[in-house]
Amino acid sequence: MLLPEGVAIDGATGTVTPSTGRYEKRLSDLRGFFHDDAALDRAIATDGDRVAYEVIDYRHEDSDLSFGTTIMMPGTVGGEYIITRGHFHLRKECGEAYYTQSGEGLLLLESRDGEVKTVEMKPGVCAFIPPEWAHRSINTGKDKLVFVWFCATDAGHDYGIIKDRGMRKLVVERNGKPTLVDNPNHA
Ligand code: F6R
Ligand code: ZN
Repeated sequence: MLLPEGVAIDGATGTVTPSTGRYEKRLSDLRGFFHDDAALDRAIATDGDRVAYEVIDYRHEDSDLSFGTTIMMPGTVGGEYIITRGHFHLRKECGEAYYTQSGEGLLLLESRDGEVKTVEMKPGVCAFIPPEWAHRSINTGKDKLVFVWFCATDAGHDYGIIKDRGMRKLVVERNGKPTLVDNPNHA
C-alpha cells in the first residue's frame, strides 16, 4: 500500500525530494523539434551540447496521479527560444496542469484541428491544459523557467505528430521580445 508523504519542491531550482525519477534533454536531443537544424548544429559547435531541460518526477504506478517539475534553461537556437519537445497525451481524456514557480515563458498549445493558443507562464499562474491539446513550454526569459506539472500517471505521450509536422507557430526573439510567428516548416 502506498503511504502519504510530503514532497518538497524547490520553486527556484525545481528539485523534488523525494523523487522517483529524472531525465534531461540536451540540445542534440531536440534535433527535428527546433525549426532550424543548421542553427542547432552551430549552437552545439559553439556552446557544446548543453542541457536544454530536465524533468524530475514523483510517480507511482499504483496511483492515478503523478507530478513533478520541469526545469528549462534560457537561450535561443536560430532565434527560437529553448523549447520542450511538445506532445499530445495518448489517453485522450487526460489533461494536465502546469504551475509556474520561477522564470518566465510561454505555453504553446495546439488542438487536433489546428487551433493555436498560448498561456503566459509566470509565477502564480497555473495553466490548464485540456485533453486533446498538444503542449510545448518555451523559456522566453533570461533565467531558468521552473514549473510543476500534475498529470495522470498513465496519460502517455505522443511525440510523433509534433516531430513529423511541427507546430503551426514558433516563438522567436524579435527586437529582444518573444514573438509568435508562423512555422515555415509546418507540414
Ligand atoms: C507530462 C508533461 C511534462 C513534459 C515535460 C517535458 O505530460 O507534459 O512533464 O513531459 O515538460 O516536455 P516534453 O515531454 O514535451 O519533452
Ligand atoms: Zn503533457
